[in-house]
Amino acid sequence: MIKRAIYPGSFDPVTKGHLDIIHRASKLTEELIVAVLQNSSKSNIWFSVEERINLLKHSISELDVENCKIKVIAFKGLLVDLIEREDVDVLIRGLRAVSDYEYEVQLDLTNKQLTKKEFETIFLNSSRKYLYLSSSIVRDVALHKGELKYFVTDYVKKELMKKVDEMNGKK
Ligand code: COA
Repeated sequence: MIKRAIYPGSFDPVTKGHLDIIHRASKLTEELIVAVLQNSSKSNIWFSVEERINLLKHSISELDVENCKIKVIAFKGLLVDLIEREDVDVLIRGLRAVSDYEYEVQLDLTNKQLTKKEFETIFLNSSRKYLYLSSSIVRDVALHKGELKYFVTDYVKKELMKKVDEMNGKK
């Protein structure tokens, strides 16, 4: 059993694909830190870090988690600094298509170069039904008022629709 693992991401917003990884990771570790990147270089962020944390906490509370303590935090700066600070043993990453692999190897090797802290990276393959999913695709479906129930929880769906209304100038 892993003592403490971390699952980082932008989560803008959390999708059922992320929740699938969180649920499966919770079976491997005593404690799971879901870390939300605050200073993302992504240009089209919809939700503030506080909103993203709220969406995550709400969605995680609906998961059937047994013996794992899950905490959701924001982080800035380098991931490895957080890994050192929180004394993390394992970094969890989800792998979707083969195209994720190259980026993940680059990320992993860079992270390992940046710290003396020993940790392992565990890749969990996405479940088949979420292989194609990404937060930006979900945002795009929301923008065009498509059906979101396959991709996000009801709560996230509601918040996405609110955001779209806000962006369209409706309150
Ligand atoms: N299900 C659904 N979607 C998934 C998914 C899954 N299992 N796994 C990933 N995705 C989606 C994400 O939603 C995201 O979608 P988007 O690009 O449309 O927003 C996309 O796939 C990429 O996800 P990910 O690779 O996790 O990127 P991220 O931006 O969410 O997180 C960090 C990347 C936070 C891990 C990385 O940027 C980081 O560590 N940053 C800190 C700075 C640092 O240390 N840099 C040096 C390391 S190179």
